[in-house]
Amino acid sequence: MDAALRRHRIAVIPGDGIGRETTPEGLRVLEAAGRRHGFELACTSYDWSCDRHTTSGAMMPEDGLDQLRGSDAIFLGAVGWPGVPDHVSLWGLLIPIRRGFDQYANVRPCRLLPGVRTPLAGRTPAEIDFVVVRENTEGEYSSVGGRMFPGTPHEFVSQQSIFTRRGCDRIIRYAFELASRRPRRKLTSATKSNGITFTMPYWDERFAEAAKSYPGIETDQFHIDILTAHFVQHPDWFDVVVGSNLFGDILSDLGPAVAGSIGVAASANINPEREFPSMFEPVHGSAPDIAGKGVANPIGQIWSGALMLEHLGEAEAAAAVLRAIEALLTEGGPRTRDLGGQAGTRAVGGAIAAAVARGRGGAGLRCRATHRPRRLGAVRAPRVRVGVPNPAGRDLRGPRGAMVWQVIRPPVRPGPLPRSPGRRRRGARATLCRGPAATGRQGRRRRLRTPARERPAG
Ligand code: IPM
Ligand code: MN
Repeated sequence: MDAALRRHRIAVIPGDGIGRETTPEGLRVLEAAGRRHGFELACTSYDWSCDRHTTSGAMMPEDGLDQLRGSDAIFLGAVGWPGVPDHVSLWGLLIPIRRGFDQYANVRPCRLLPGVRTPLAGRTPAEIDFVVVRENTEGEYSSVGGRMFPGTPHEFVSQQSIFTRRGCDRIIRYAFELASRRPRRKLTSATKSNGITFTMPYWDERFAEAAKSYPGIETDQFHIDILTAHFVQHPDWFDVVVGSNLFGDILSDLGPAVAGSIGVAASANINPEREFPSMFEPVHGSAPDIAGKGVANPIGQIWSGALMLEHLGEAEAAAAVLRAIEALLTEGGPRTRDLGGQAGTRAVGGAIAAAVARGRGGAGLRCRATHRPRRLGAVRAPRVRVGVPNPAGRDLRGPRGAMVWQVIRPPVRPGPLPRSPGRRRRGARATLCRGPAATGRQGRRRRLRTPARERPAG
């Protein structure tokens, strides 16, 4: 960040599919936040994508990471498109960035936003509010392995899981630090040490070791199989959940699903030491089935933008974006089909940007609240009339105020960040975005470690 101007250099990679529709909406909201809160985004856009792979044989240029290195953060849409195998597109763009920039903490808040319907009957926003912290650089996503004797009866493949002491310790500590900043101060570890007998007992060992340094944090751990069941049956048990790369990946789709829609889920790929830029992207993918129709939910992207603002030190603006999202959902603003509405991507982005611009939670969303939660067979389109005075004159800020933001405070807050000088790169388009266990058999409840506090009967 340039201190005098509070200008943040953002590398924007819309990527594929709906990423191209959601990133502009994310930027629109961030620009509105900048105008309101006194910062500018200097955006450089990169067309790295499956299209690029088709025309030039690579998802990104060979010096791609060098081109991104000078930015303060990376804002990514989605990666993947039919015609390019997923393992080629993802390992040609997303994974190299996560690894090359040592973004080892993948942080994914799972919150039932007010006004969103969860598939879990009777659950309220207070009961679904946890964060999945996923190891993001090693574990099951290793590049160690291969195929031998291809095409013969002896053919075999292997892929090695890699759990390093450094890798386990740093992600587990990151999760403990995050838990220590949240009111519940609780951390759950995802394991599978009853079936996977080297790596997972090791993970448990490192978790237990780290726990000694955090006596004030309540801890527990579950095998991944029963943990998925608990996410559905007892989402209120969880505060921060830490897992390996694969376990965290699975939990961070399940978490948003129990919170109502993957379309709203946000994520941050953090390099906590800030040696490299961190990357912010929605949890959803490129969604080829709905891409190009203008119907994708931009909230996951916008919320990811809020996580990015928080990381950039713009906490107030970040909180304002979250309040605007909540206001849209509670006050009858436009919503996309996944949330029971019929509005398009741009209408939702525009409404949230307008709310942020007005500076009060939902002030920009003043509209006739005609949205009704979806009932089977009857979906009613919200009729939105932006600019109509809010009849009740209510302050539409989210009911939980600043608390909504507790989930994304970065645990590491170093001082001024060393940065390599930002440079314009060839082929990059620069724009200034204006704006100022385990015991027991399967099916039985397993608890590996008894938390201090008794739990409700499971
Ligand atoms: C995610 C995605 C990626 C992952 C895929 C697309 C490689 O599912 O970000 O969760 O598994 O990390
Ligand atoms: Mn995933």
